[in-house]
Amino acid sequence: MATRINPSILSADFVNMERDLGRIADADLVHVDVMDNHFVPNLTFGLQMVQRVQEVSPLPLDVHLMIDDPDRWAPDYAETGAFSVTFHAEAATDPVALARRLREIGARAGIALKPGTDPEPYLDLLSEFDQLLVMTVEPGFGGQSFKRDMMPKLQAVRAAAERSGLDLWLQVDGGISLETIEVAAENGADTFVAGSSVFNAADPADQIRMLRERAAAHSHR
Ligand code: DX5
Ligand code: ZN
Repeated sequence: MATRINPSILSADFVNMERDLGRIADADLVHVDVMDNHFVPNLTFGLQMVQRVQEVSPLPLDVHLMIDDPDRWAPDYAETGAFSVTFHAEAATDPVALARRLREIGARAGIALKPGTDPEPYLDLLSEFDQLLVMTVEPGFGGQSFKRDMMPKLQAVRAAAERSGLDLWLQVDGGISLETIEVAAENGADTFVAGSSVFNAADPADQIRMLRERAAAHSHR
Protein backbone atom coordinates (compact mmCIF):
# COMPACT_ATOMS: atom_id res chain seq x y z
CA MET A 1 0.00 0.00 0.00
CA ALA A 2 1.38 3.35 -0.97
CA THR A 3 1.00 6.32 1.33
CA ARG A 4 3.27 9.24 0.68
CA ILE A 5 4.16 12.09 3.04
CA ASN A 6 5.57 15.14 1.28
CA PRO A 7 6.71 17.88 3.67
CA SER A 8 6.38 21.39 2.24
CA ILE A 9 9.51 23.50 2.53
CA LEU A 10 7.31 26.60 2.58
CA SER A 11 7.49 26.11 6.37
CA ALA A 12 11.26 25.48 6.41
CA ASP A 13 13.87 28.08 7.32
CA PHE A 14 14.75 29.61 3.94
CA VAL A 15 18.30 30.50 5.03
CA ASN A 16 18.92 27.02 6.45
CA MET A 17 17.28 25.06 3.66
CA GLU A 18 19.91 22.35 3.37
CA ARG A 19 19.77 21.70 7.12
CA ASP A 20 15.98 21.53 7.02
CA LEU A 21 16.02 19.16 4.02
CA GLY A 22 18.15 16.88 6.20
CA ARG A 23 15.44 16.92 8.88
CA ILE A 24 12.85 15.45 6.51
CA ALA A 25 15.04 12.80 4.89
CA ASP A 26 12.63 10.04 6.04
CA ALA A 27 9.77 11.51 4.02
CA ASP A 28 8.81 10.40 0.51
CA LEU A 29 9.19 13.56 -1.56
CA VAL A 30 9.96 17.21 -0.89
CA HIS A 31 7.01 19.49 -1.73
CA VAL A 32 8.29 22.72 -3.27
CA ASP A 33 5.82 25.63 -3.45
CA VAL A 34 6.57 28.11 -6.22
CA MET A 35 4.46 31.28 -5.93
CA ASP A 36 4.60 34.28 -8.23
CA ASN A 37 2.53 36.90 -6.38
CA HIS A 38 0.09 36.92 -9.32
CA PHE A 39 -1.69 33.58 -9.29
CA VAL A 40 -1.58 33.74 -5.49
CA PRO A 41 -0.99 36.78 -3.24
CA ASN A 42 2.37 35.54 -2.01
CA LEU A 43 5.89 35.18 -3.39
CA THR A 44 8.38 32.40 -2.66
CA PHE A 45 11.14 31.49 -5.09
CA GLY A 46 11.66 30.46 -8.69
CA LEU A 47 13.66 28.24 -10.96
CA GLN A 48 17.11 29.04 -9.63
CA MET A 49 16.15 28.02 -6.09
CA VAL A 50 14.45 24.85 -7.28
CA GLN A 51 17.59 23.89 -9.22
CA ARG A 52 19.69 24.31 -6.06
CA VAL A 53 17.23 22.39 -3.88
CA GLN A 54 17.29 19.62 -6.49
CA GLU A 55 21.09 19.48 -6.22
CA VAL A 56 21.23 19.13 -2.44
CA SER A 57 17.98 17.30 -1.62
CA PRO A 58 18.24 13.68 -0.48
CA LEU A 59 14.67 13.18 -1.76
CA PRO A 60 13.00 13.71 -5.14
CA LEU A 61 11.10 16.96 -5.66
CA ASP A 62 7.33 17.38 -5.92
CA VAL A 63 7.06 20.88 -7.41
CA HIS A 64 3.75 22.74 -6.93
CA LEU A 65 3.51 25.72 -9.25
CA MET A 66 1.16 28.43 -8.04
CA ILE A 67 1.97 30.68 -10.99
CA ASP A 68 0.33 32.27 -14.00
CA ASP A 69 1.15 30.95 -17.45
CA PRO A 70 2.38 27.47 -16.45
CA ASP A 71 2.19 26.55 -20.15
CA ARG A 72 5.27 28.73 -20.56
CA TRP A 73 7.14 27.97 -17.32
CA ALA A 74 6.33 24.47 -16.09
CA PRO A 75 8.57 22.64 -18.62
CA ASP A 76 11.60 24.51 -17.24
CA TYR A 77 10.86 23.02 -13.81
CA ALA A 78 10.63 19.54 -15.32
CA GLU A 79 14.02 20.14 -16.93
CA THR A 80 15.57 20.63 -13.48
CA GLY A 81 15.01 16.91 -12.89
CA ALA A 82 12.00 17.34 -10.61
CA PHE A 83 10.22 14.04 -10.01
CA SER A 84 6.82 15.65 -10.46
CA VAL A 85 5.56 19.03 -11.61
CA THR A 86 2.04 20.11 -10.70
CA PHE A 87 0.42 23.18 -12.26
CA HIS A 88 -2.98 24.75 -11.56
CA ALA A 89 -5.92 23.96 -13.82
CA GLU A 90 -7.17 27.54 -13.34
CA ALA A 91 -3.94 28.97 -14.77
CA ALA A 92 -3.21 26.64 -17.67
CA THR A 93 -4.37 27.35 -21.21
CA ASP A 94 -4.01 23.77 -22.47
CA PRO A 95 -3.62 21.39 -19.50
CA VAL A 96 -3.46 18.22 -21.60
CA ALA A 97 -0.77 19.54 -23.94
CA LEU A 98 1.22 20.79 -20.97
CA ALA A 99 0.94 17.46 -19.12
CA ARG A 100 2.14 15.64 -22.24
CA ARG A 101 5.10 17.97 -22.50
CA LEU A 102 6.04 17.40 -18.84
CA ARG A 103 5.90 13.62 -19.30
CA GLU A 104 7.98 13.88 -22.46
CA ILE A 105 10.67 15.67 -20.45
CA GLY A 106 10.54 12.86 -17.89
CA ALA A 107 8.56 14.34 -15.00
CA ARG A 108 5.30 13.07 -13.60
CA ALA A 109 2.53 15.48 -14.58
CA GLY A 110 0.22 16.88 -11.90
CA ILE A 111 -2.85 19.08 -12.07
CA ALA A 112 -4.04 21.09 -9.06
CA LEU A 113 -7.54 22.35 -8.27
CA LYS A 114 -8.29 25.29 -6.00
CA PRO A 115 -11.10 24.76 -3.47
CA GLY A 116 -13.66 26.48 -5.72
CA THR A 117 -12.77 24.53 -8.86
CA ASP A 118 -15.19 21.84 -10.03
CA PRO A 119 -13.32 18.58 -10.77
CA GLU A 120 -15.94 17.45 -13.31
CA PRO A 121 -14.23 18.75 -16.51
CA TYR A 122 -11.06 16.85 -15.59
CA LEU A 123 -12.55 13.47 -14.68
CA ASP A 124 -12.45 12.20 -18.26
CA LEU A 125 -8.87 13.41 -18.69
CA LEU A 126 -7.30 11.69 -15.70
CA SER A 127 -5.20 9.34 -17.82
CA GLU A 128 -3.25 12.41 -18.98
CA PHE A 129 -2.03 13.03 -15.42
CA ASP A 130 0.00 11.10 -12.87
CA GLN A 131 -1.25 13.14 -9.93
CA LEU A 132 -4.23 15.32 -9.11
CA LEU A 133 -3.89 17.78 -6.25
CA VAL A 134 -7.00 18.78 -4.35
CA MET A 135 -6.22 21.98 -2.44
CA THR A 136 -7.67 21.76 1.07
CA VAL A 137 -6.95 25.46 1.73
CA GLU A 138 -6.89 28.50 -0.56
CA PRO A 139 -3.39 28.36 -2.09
CA GLY A 140 -0.87 30.96 -0.98
CA PHE A 141 0.01 30.43 2.66
CA GLY A 142 0.97 27.70 5.11
CA GLY A 143 -0.71 27.22 8.46
CA GLN A 144 -4.36 27.55 7.36
CA SER A 145 -7.22 25.27 8.46
CA PHE A 146 -8.10 22.14 6.54
CA LYS A 147 -11.31 22.40 4.50
CA ARG A 148 -13.36 19.32 5.29
CA ASP A 149 -15.86 20.29 2.60
CA MET A 150 -13.31 19.16 0.00
CA MET A 151 -13.94 15.50 0.92
CA PRO A 152 -16.65 14.93 -1.72
CA LYS A 153 -14.20 16.25 -4.34
CA LEU A 154 -11.59 13.71 -3.22
CA GLN A 155 -14.16 10.95 -3.42
CA ALA A 156 -15.29 11.99 -6.90
CA VAL A 157 -11.75 12.01 -8.25
CA ARG A 158 -10.82 8.71 -6.61
CA ALA A 159 -13.98 7.04 -7.94
CA ALA A 160 -13.31 8.30 -11.47
CA ALA A 161 -9.70 7.10 -11.36
CA GLU A 162 -10.83 3.67 -10.18
CA ARG A 163 -13.49 3.43 -12.89
CA SER A 164 -10.77 4.08 -15.45
CA GLY A 165 -8.34 1.66 -13.79
CA LEU A 166 -5.76 4.38 -13.23
CA ASP A 167 -3.07 4.50 -10.56
CA LEU A 168 -3.55 8.24 -10.09
CA TRP A 169 -1.82 9.74 -7.07
CA LEU A 170 -4.43 11.82 -5.27
CA GLN A 171 -2.71 14.56 -3.30
CA VAL A 172 -4.09 16.82 -0.59
CA ASP A 173 -2.34 20.05 0.34
CA GLY A 174 -3.25 22.44 3.13
CA GLY A 175 -3.97 21.96 6.82
CA ILE A 176 -2.78 18.34 6.97
CA SER A 177 -1.99 17.34 10.56
CA LEU A 178 -2.33 14.34 12.85
CA GLU A 179 -5.95 15.44 13.31
CA THR A 180 -6.91 15.81 9.64
CA ILE A 181 -4.86 13.22 7.76
CA GLU A 182 -7.23 10.37 8.63
CA VAL A 183 -10.31 11.85 7.02
CA ALA A 184 -8.32 12.74 3.89
CA ALA A 185 -7.06 9.15 3.65
CA GLU A 186 -10.56 7.75 4.22
CA ASN A 187 -11.85 9.84 1.33
CA GLY A 188 -9.26 8.58 -1.14
CA ALA A 189 -6.09 10.67 -0.76
CA ASP A 190 -2.81 8.75 -0.85
CA THR A 191 -0.28 11.60 -1.08
CA PHE A 192 -0.18 14.13 1.75
CA VAL A 193 1.53 17.50 1.80
CA ALA A 194 2.31 18.77 5.28
CA GLY A 195 4.14 22.02 5.92
CA SER A 196 3.60 23.58 9.33
CA SER A 197 2.69 20.29 11.05
CA VAL A 198 6.08 18.81 10.08
CA PHE A 199 8.39 21.81 10.44
CA ASN A 200 6.77 23.16 13.61
CA ALA A 201 7.03 19.75 15.30
CA ALA A 202 9.72 19.25 17.92
CA ASP A 203 10.93 16.22 15.94
CA PRO A 204 10.03 16.43 12.24
CA ALA A 205 11.17 12.82 11.56
CA ASP A 206 8.90 11.52 14.28
CA GLN A 207 6.01 13.63 13.00
CA ILE A 208 6.47 12.23 9.48
CA ARG A 209 6.39 8.68 10.89
CA MET A 210 3.18 9.36 12.86
CA LEU A 211 1.49 11.03 9.87
CA ARG A 212 2.38 8.05 7.68
CA GLU A 213 1.06 5.54 10.22
CA ARG A 214 -2.25 7.37 10.60
CA ALA A 215 -2.73 7.76 6.87
CA ALA A 216 -1.90 4.11 6.20
CA ALA A 217 -4.32 2.93 8.90
CA HIS A 218 -7.18 4.83 7.24
CA SER A 219 -6.34 4.32 3.59
CA HIS A 220 -8.49 2.16 1.34
CA ARG A 221 -5.76 1.85 -1.23
C1 DX5 B 1 -0.22 26.48 0.32
C2 DX5 B 1 0.85 25.54 -0.14
C3 DX5 B 1 1.07 24.40 0.78
C4 DX5 B 1 1.52 24.82 2.18
C5 DX5 B 1 0.83 23.90 3.13
O1 DX5 B 1 -0.65 27.25 -0.74
O2 DX5 B 1 0.55 24.97 -1.41
O3 DX5 B 1 1.94 23.42 0.25
O4 DX5 B 1 2.90 24.71 2.40
O5 DX5 B 1 1.11 24.31 4.43
P1 DX5 B 1 0.36 23.71 5.70
O6 DX5 B 1 0.65 22.21 5.71
O7 DX5 B 1 0.95 24.44 6.83
O8 DX5 B 1 -1.11 23.97 5.50
ZN1 ZN C 1 1.71 23.19 -2.08
